[in-house]
Order: sequence, then C-alpha cells, then structure tokens
Amino acid sequence: MRIAMTRKIPAVAQDILQSIGDVDVWPEQMPPSPDKLLELTDGCDGILSTLNDRIDGAFLDQVPSVKVVSNFAVGYDNINVDDCTARGVAVCITPDVLTDTTADFAFALLLAAARRVSESHQSIPRGEWKTWEPLGYLGQDVHGSTLGIVGMGRIGVAMAKRAAGFNMPVIYSDMYRNEKAEQELGVKHVDFDEVLTRSDFISVHVPLTPETRQLFGAAEFEKMKESAVLINTSRGPVVDTNALVDALNSGKIWGAGLDVTDPEPLPADHPLLENEKAVVCPHIASASETTRSRMAQLAAENVKAVLTGETPPRCLNPEVLSRG
Ligand code: GLV
Repeated sequence: MRIAMTRKIPAVAQDILQSIGDVDVWPEQMPPSPDKLLELTDGCDGILSTLNDRIDGAFLDQVPSVKVVSNFAVGYDNINVDDCTARGVAVCITPDVLTDTTADFAFALLLAAARRVSESHQSIPRGEWKTWEPLGYLGQDVHGSTLGIVGMGRIGVAMAKRAAGFNMPVIYSDMYRNEKAEQELGVKHVDFDEVLTRSDFISVHVPLTPETRQLFGAAEFEKMKESAVLINTSRGPVVDTNALVDALNSGKIWGAGLDVTDPEPLPADHPLLENEKAVVCPHIASASETTRSRMAQLAAENVKAVLTGETPPRCLNPEVLSRG
C-alpha cells in the first residue's frame, strides 16, 4: 500500500498511515504544483490532501490507483466529489474535531474587529500612545448586540453558544431550519435579508458552493447597518472582496474580521489591508495545537479505514465503499 501526503501535518497522521503501508510526504512549505502533485501521487492508493490541492476528474484519470482522498479540512470545495464518486474514490473530511476551535476564532475576530484590538496595538510601536485618549479607538459594543449567523451548521451553532455569554440575541439564515438550535439556544430563523438589515454583527458559516459564491456583494453591504461588522471564517469567495473594500472605505459597513479572503493568500499590498477597520488573518481558525493533531488523526484514520476495508469515520460518499 502507498499513501501520499501532500503536506507535512502533525506526526500522528504518519504514525497511523505507516502501520498500513509506505508514506510519501511532500516536504516543502509551499504546496505541490499540479505537476508535482501528479508525481507525488503516481501509483498511490490513498491521498491525504489539503485545501490547496485541486482534486477533480482530470486529475484522478491520471492516477487511477487512488481509492481514497482524505482532506485535512472540514471544507472540501477543492474536491469535485461527483467526479470522485463516478470513479469509485471515497472522499473524507475532518468535521467536529475543529468546530469549537474555529468558533473560538470567529468570536476572537468579532471582538478584535469590534474593539479595534489589532489597530490600537499597532499604533504603539509607531509611538502614537501619548496619553489616555477620551476619544481614541471608539469601537462597537459586543454585549447585547444582535448577531446574525449565516449558516446554522456545526460551527454556526458553536458561535451562537458563545454569543449567549455576551447576551447577544441571535438571528440566523440557512436553507435548512435548525430546530434543535432554535429550541436549545433560542436562535431565531429569519430570511437572509433580515439578517443583513437587523444584525450588528454578521458571522458567515456556509460552505463554498455555486449558491454561496459572492453571497456578500455591493447590494448586501448596502442593506447592512453602517455600524455593522462582517466576520468570515468560511471561505474567501463567499464575499466579493472589491465590494467589501468599497463598503469599508465608504463607511457602508463599519468593520470586518476575516480569516479567509479572495484571493488567498492576500498580497501584502492589497487594499483590504490598508483599511484599519479590517482585521485580517491568514486562514488560521482551526490552528490550535490540539485541534490540528485531532484533524491529522481523523484524516489518517479515514484513509486507513478505506484502504483496510473498514467504514471510514467521516466519508462524504459512502456509496462508493459498498461497490468493492
Ligand atoms: C479549513 O478551512 C477547513 O475547512 O477545515
């Protein structure tokens, strides 16, 4: 058995995979190019991928030995699942283990953007802290403000739980009602427009799909409150970046906390970084030591299970498993 790992991830993954075969790990900091990915995966049985690898039919047709693609992520917009299913390739992901860590970070961005944490910190090394300022760095109160959650899945629910501690009424939009969350947390389902017009903070927790691509554009920012703050820890292309820059620069919305951007990585001279009301981080929401190890373990267990004929813990297309 041969397994290709497209990046270095916590060691537990390699320990698990070495128990069933040979493991080839891409050694560099930058992800492999499509050509290098083909070289690395040539003839392998399983791939432990990251969100940087594009896995689709054209790729799989060149590596027909592959039986499982296990993404080291909960999001899987880098993988064409239908193409995998058509070729009998199992697709696995790492949900649940990163839910709370990601929600912690979404809330950290919310607080940081609202209370201007990063911007005021950065003023100190510039020598701008001359005295206590009665009018300096006035922000938006978090407690008691209305939080709008777009996408009430696992991470949306975890975000709503955190908001309860800040006495924030929570409204949400989602194509599916989450009645459990409504009963247990008192969150209220409204339509997307109502989230836009009523929320003081909007936190996005949807997967990237054709329906959610550019969900937030000029028209949506127009409807939001001028005091509103947008938090995005989902995928960058859910937000139209140029429209967001315009909305921030023209004061149509007050601030943003972003862990994901479009493009990614964001160039160092991007206009988004010039607006101090945007707190931007380099896609690190799940990056705690414990959670990245749990993700590595789950991603490896997914590969191992498929290749040893067991049921993988988190498979998106289990129908391929019964085909033998
Ligand atoms: C990270 O973005 C993930 O999808 O796990």
